Amino acid sequence: MCESDAAIRFVTVGAVDDIPNGTSRMFVVEGKAVGVFHVEHQFYALDNACPHAGASLAHGHLDGCTVSCRIHHWRFCLKTGTYLDEPASRWNVQVVPVRVVEGHIQIGLP
Ligand code: FES
Repeated sequence: MCESDAAIRFVTVGAVDDIPNGTSRMFVVEGKAVGVFHVEHQFYALDNACPHAGASLAHGHLDGCTVSCRIHHWRFCLKTGTYLDEPASRWNVQVVPVRVVEGHIQIGLP
């Protein structure tokens, strides 16, 4: 399923129940790997590739609104994509629009 919202096109990737609170999962949406995180009853989405060496952030460790990469433990803010171990660095991760519509998780694509 796919629909438009302003300039963003949202694509359904699964149901809310597919990602219990406190967990994360990777989806490939039209060739783009996106990590979707369910923490504190909110959904967040980031480009799934860690900017250090490409590990899957969806397979990282969650601590509140922070995900730590499982390979070398770099930490990123789920809300902003900011690399938290060196703020204002060039290593931030792209935030991906995500929303919940009628129990379905939707990822926004440009
Ligand atoms: S690959 Fe993520 S911190 Fe190294």
